[in-house]
Amino acid sequence: MPLENSAENFHPIDSKILDKNSSLVFDIYCKVQDDDENRFVLYASKKPRYREKVRALLRSSDFTEELFIHEQDLAAYFEYATNALRDYVINSDATPEKKMEKVYDLSRDVTHQFFEANSSPEILRGSGQVVELMEKCLEDNKLGFHGLSKIMEKDYYTYTHSINVGLYCMSFALKIGMPADEVHELGLGGMLHDVGKSTLPQGIINKIGSLTEEEFEMVKQHTDKGEAVLRGLGCYGEKVIQVVGQHHEKYNGEGYHQGLVGDDIALFARICKLTDVYDALTTRRSYKKSLKPLEALTIMKSQMGHEFDPKLLNAFIRMMGPQG
Ligand SMILES: [Fe+2]
Ligand SMILES: [Fe+2]
Repeated sequence: MPLENSAENFHPIDSKILDKNSSLVFDIYCKVQDDDENRFVLYASKKPRYREKVRALLRSSDFTEELFIHEQDLAAYFEYATNALRDYVINSDATPEKKMEKVYDLSRDVTHQFFEANSSPEILRGSGQVVELMEKCLEDNKLGFHGLSKIMEKDYYTYTHSINVGLYCMSFALKIGMPADEVHELGLGGMLHDVGKSTLPQGIINKIGSLTEEEFEMVKQHTDKGEAVLRGLGCYGEKVIQVVGQHHEKYNGEGYHQGLVGDDIALFARICKLTDVYDALTTRRSYKKSLKPLEALTIMKSQMGHEFDPKLLNAFIRMMGPQG
């Protein structure tokens, strides 16, 4: 199949992760300027017959120029990058902050591609491994809630919001002593909770100001559509899918899309609802400032209390306290 060869089909990569001793699983390109036009030319091929030549090339290169891959190799690149990062997270003596910063950067790259570049859901298949790395960085709890929030992007984009919600969910789950497999599922659900927004027109997702009634009805479908996206991939458990489908349910029954009430809403979705609102309130948008943690928690308790499971809300507020 011929490659689409315009600039938007190429994706910059982090050349520092290239292992000069292993085989490439994606083609690498570099950018050349040609009559005011950028062209991407093959720099190193993944074809087995060039393996030795490519290794020699990578060993001799200092990678001062920016390198790219074609979007068709994105899923392979993300898998490769995740493996390289796993080695760093497990074996390096870097601080938990440094490790989490790198994991955050990779996650941002994956979700950015998915939400903003119209990539296929196949890219999300690696999200389980990314969540595993996040757990590794969080597990000894040295980062704490406040250390974690320093690393997070404070401008609201759907792709960074998704990661923040996943991390807050995992941090909360660890704090209340959930078993490891549930921490993982909840983190995954949090990271994927707004996946259905990828099916909405960009104009609606990024609209400044209030939505029309019709637009709001479209946005409300992101819970249903998100469930469909995950079911289509066939690799997520029911608990993860419930987070996506039920994270806009309100404890008093006035949410969407099923109007579930109280504990009929899945536990993971009730937790995601808290972290979702908290991240939305504490991040900036072009039309609103971010709230300080205490301001956000005060609003959640005093004006929105009916939306949340009261026990979970109290536990969440305790977690955000100075000892959190
Ligand atoms: Fe949502
Ligand atoms: Fe959200």
